[in-house]
Amino acid sequence: MQIFNTPFQSCVSFFLQYYTWLTLFLSVHLQRTSRLLTSFSLLVFCIFTSSSALQIGETCASDGNCDAGLRCESCPANGNTRPRCTRIQPLNATSKVKGLPFNRYSWLTTHNSYALSGSKSATGSVIVSPTNQEDSVTNQLNNGVRGLMLDMYDFENDIWLCHSTGGKCYNFTAFQPAINVLKEIQVFLEANPTEIVTIFIEDYVTSPQGLTKVFNASGLSTYWFPVTQMPKSGEDWPTVDKMVQQNQRLVVFTSIASKEASEGIAYEWRYVVENQYGNDGMVAGSCPNRAESPPMNTTTISLVLENYFPDNPNTTGVCVDNSAALISMTNTCYQAAGKRWPNFIAVDFYQKSDGGGAPEAVDVANGHLTCGCDNIAYCKANATFGTCDVPTIAPPPPGSLTPSASLVPSIAYLDSRPLQLRWLFGTILTTIVLLLL
Ligand SMILES: *[C@@H]1O[C@H](CO)[C@@H](O)[C@H](O)[C@H]1NC(C)=O
Ligand SMILES: *[C@@H]1O[C@H](CO)[C@@H](O)[C@H](O)[C@H]1NC(C)=O
Ligand SMILES: *[C@@H]1O[C@H](CO)[C@@H](O)[C@H](O)[C@H]1NC(C)=O
Ligand SMILES: *[C@@H]1O[C@H](CO)[C@@H](O)[C@H](O)[C@H]1NC(C)=O
Ligand SMILES: *[C@@H]1O[C@H](CO)[C@@H](O)[C@H](O)[C@H]1NC(C)=O
Ligand SMILES: *[C@@H]1O[C@H](CO)[C@@H](O)[C@H](O)[C@H]1NC(C)=O
Repeated sequence: MQIFNTPFQSCVSFFLQYYTWLTLFLSVHLQRTSRLLTSFSLLVFCIFTSSSALQIGETCASDGNCDAGLRCESCPANGNTRPRCTRIQPLNATSKVKGLPFNRYSWLTTHNSYALSGSKSATGSVIVSPTNQEDSVTNQLNNGVRGLMLDMYDFENDIWLCHSTGGKCYNFTAFQPAINVLKEIQVFLEANPTEIVTIFIEDYVTSPQGLTKVFNASGLSTYWFPVTQMPKSGEDWPTVDKMVQQNQRLVVFTSIASKEASEGIAYEWRYVVENQYGNDGMVAGSCPNRAESPPMNTTTISLVLENYFPDNPNTTGVCVDNSAALISMTNTCYQAAGKRWPNFIAVDFYQKSDGGGAPEAVDVANGHLTCGCDNIAYCKANATFGTCDVPTIAPPPPGSLTPSASLVPSIAYLDSRPLQLRWLFGTILTTIVLLLL
């Protein structure tokens, strides 16, 4: 059994084990004061180096300080200025509760997945369009994003991803050729043979077979889930296992109805109900359907998509939007959708939150969908629906910045680690006592 499970604890343990050797060495070579100083420096060094794997909620200085799947985030718009290790990945739902129909899971979805902050147009032009995400589609997929919203246009004799207006793409609204991002998805699906990805195309492509050509060229057609197998009267989708076995792991929806007949690309609102996007979709307590979508409570449609992002992406406000307000809207949309939890939760800047964020909202939806619990973390293996394992956890430390934390972040995180604080003081005390002997 491993007792010292954090780097800090193993560091202290290492320090204690070699203590005898150390004091012997030090007593030979150094004065008493220098001995004390050296021991203390070693301890401080320990704390600093061990801060490289902080857990959720702990004070951090940079992303690299935090465990895998976490990022160093604060949310000043909510008054929470203490940089904390914050989740950016949902739990792996298909691993926790296996083999359910596709529509019995919720998938983290990025709005305008391709519109990355700081991008330059592949035309060489400056981009004037708003941006909605901070990392590449590859990175999003690696963080567990499984729904991608892509705006596709005819441009430069090709299909491009543009964040434009009036159905036309310009150099200054063009991000890059769609094939680049489709290839990223292809690489991911090939490397992860049990994962399923859904693409929602905001479709401005009018060139004949334009989408089919670019999907063919990207190698993604191999994974195509056929429109003929999509449920049309509110039935369950095939199970994720079946989709994996058949290698039909790419679900694609278009916003142009005629492409279902002409190209075999599913018309989104025949299979998905979706709430209003933008500011009108962020009014607390109401979850109206998007104009193109049938009413949210149309239960002959098996999939439910929740949008939650403003008209204009707001980098400072998004951590507030993606947190308590998002969970609250998820509950509102659950009611509006005829007591159905969203299968897709679409947000801007999916990594930004004040706590658990969009990944947590997805975990909540997955808990309800897969095992009848408030969070997929509470699902028990092979248990009957609604039998949950709710852990008793200590409340998280406050998100506001304490004065000490602003001065020395890597020491201040000990505030939230009482056990390690005990270790620290114990060790310092022992050091002093032994050295004085
Ligand atoms: C999620 O779990 C499934 C089933 O155990 C596994 O095949 C898959 O690789 C996991 N996905 C990720 C992203 O870890
Ligand atoms: C737009 O970008 C293309 C290169 O992709 C360039 O040839 C063209 O001149 C640009 N048009 C304008 C108006 O800048
Ligand atoms: C796309 O690929 C399929 C299968 O290889 C082929 O039958 C079809 O003609 C291709 N369509 C276009 C427009 O390239
Ligand atoms: C569905 O919602 C509409 C309002 O959008 C409501 O008028 C209607 O009664 C609801 N239908 C059912 C079956 O609940
Ligand atoms: C962005 O969010 C901040 C914090 O919530 C808010 O004060 C500000 O008004 C928002 N900006 C816009 C343009 O909505
Ligand atoms: C749950 O059921 C599966 C398949 O029946 C079995 O392989 C697995 O060991 C079970 N897990 C537990 C924890 O009982």
